[in-house]
Amino acid sequence: MDRAKIARILQMEEYGSNILLKGWIRTKRDSKGGFSFLEINDGSTIENIQVIANQTLENYQKEILHLSTGCSVAVEGELVSSPGKGQKNEIRATKIKVYGWSDPEEYPLQKKRHSFEFLRQIAHLRPRTNTFGAVTRVRNALSQAIHTFFQKRGFYYIHTPIITGSDCEGAGELFKVTTLNLGDLPYDQAGQIDYTQDFFGRATSLTVSGQLEIETYALALGDVYNFGPTFRAENSNTSRHLAEFWMIEPEMAFAELKEDMDLAEDFLKSIFTHILDHCQSDMHFFNLRIDNTIIETIEHIIQSTFERITYTEAVEILENSGEDFEFPVKWGVDLQSEHERYLTEKKIKKPVFVIDYPKEIKAFYMKLNDDGRTVGAMDVLVPRVGEIIGGSQREDNYEALKQKIAQMGFSEKEYWWYLDLRKYGSVPHSGFGLGFERLVQFVTGMNNIRDVIPYPRSPKSAEF
Ligand code: 4AD
Ligand code: MG
Repeated sequence: MDRAKIARILQMEEYGSNILLKGWIRTKRDSKGGFSFLEINDGSTIENIQVIANQTLENYQKEILHLSTGCSVAVEGELVSSPGKGQKNEIRATKIKVYGWSDPEEYPLQKKRHSFEFLRQIAHLRPRTNTFGAVTRVRNALSQAIHTFFQKRGFYYIHTPIITGSDCEGAGELFKVTTLNLGDLPYDQAGQIDYTQDFFGRATSLTVSGQLEIETYALALGDVYNFGPTFRAENSNTSRHLAEFWMIEPEMAFAELKEDMDLAEDFLKSIFTHILDHCQSDMHFFNLRIDNTIIETIEHIIQSTFERITYTEAVEILENSGEDFEFPVKWGVDLQSEHERYLTEKKIKKPVFVIDYPKEIKAFYMKLNDDGRTVGAMDVLVPRVGEIIGGSQREDNYEALKQKIAQMGFSEKEYWWYLDLRKYGSVPHSGFGLGFERLVQFVTGMNNIRDVIPYPRSPKSAEF
């Protein structure tokens, strides 16, 4: 007999039929009447199925009575309609095979609720909890929704490199990639590390963004996107930063900032709609246990039109807010999380695009606006998370970009291929990056970004 998944068994109506299921025991209760109730989960849904094990089972005394949380079993039995409230279906076991025992004295996952801090220390076992099972299924569904959105619109999925020779954001937050012997580094005559002896014959690092490389494909294939891991050696120990996170980066040729914003807005609404439609039991769980406004908030966002304001307007709002910010605001400073959250949560109360930032606080590749002091940047701010998307129209003028690279103190030689795009058939083009974990955080209501990725990487922490 083929194994049936619990998600399907709970929907079945073929009462009396024989079923084979396999999973892990969540709880067991022994009744005086000579039978036991097993709650079993197999990861296919947040819901458990109840199995009734009668003392007539041949291994009832020897094994069933000794089962405990975490043991793995195969159950064969009859599908019956459940008389009590709650679940519709249950299984009356005719045979139970134990795959693996789990010592109840040692197993760290007990029936009680554990703190997320504790669960982070046992990240190899936390997917067995309701919360992490639900996060994992929602993360999966979001990935699929993202690909579906772009594929339907004719965007090509591009695999940009993970090891790279360029620093896209120019912020110097690079993890170096090297095979040089760190205990015995080779130096050149100027006393610098001699990377010509390194594996690639040059200095390389893990990518902070696939944008520079993906632009080259946009200028050939039109609409493209990537979806991959990015790495930042940024010493930010916050609930919104990871050293390794996943990013989705669409890039469109022949698109200006307005089209970029339209794409971002359609994109977010489309994947939110998908999640409400396809992850109902998990979303219901988050709404019940994690944040009881989450479904309502997402529904509201799907219906609303995102606000669009300039950085200059945002600063005015913040200056006149009467709020006592930790970081004072004035034109020219970068917006901090507290400012972003004030704008989207308190003032505008829905997602907001902030555009046209001062050129000094944004990356080198952004298009200079006619005013000469701002660039065509756009950030999307959402309640609770703050910045979820960062994007821009790219500088497509050869001379302007060359100048900018020089001003930043970067080497023109390093960016030769990126400059070539502006030399041969340059076009206006735009794109953005969505932080995948911030998206998962937003959708699930989870507070800490470390709890929405299987194995979080953050300063001083890379266990597992
Ligand atoms: O704003 P960022 O730095 O933009 C870029 O990397 C551009 N190259 C994207 C592009 O235009 N193609 O990062 C984009 C998004 C942020 O808005 C945020 O959601 C997320 O990536 N992000 C992080 N998420 C988790 N941990 C970090 N340390 C993050 N840094 C950025
Ligand atoms: Mg940003």
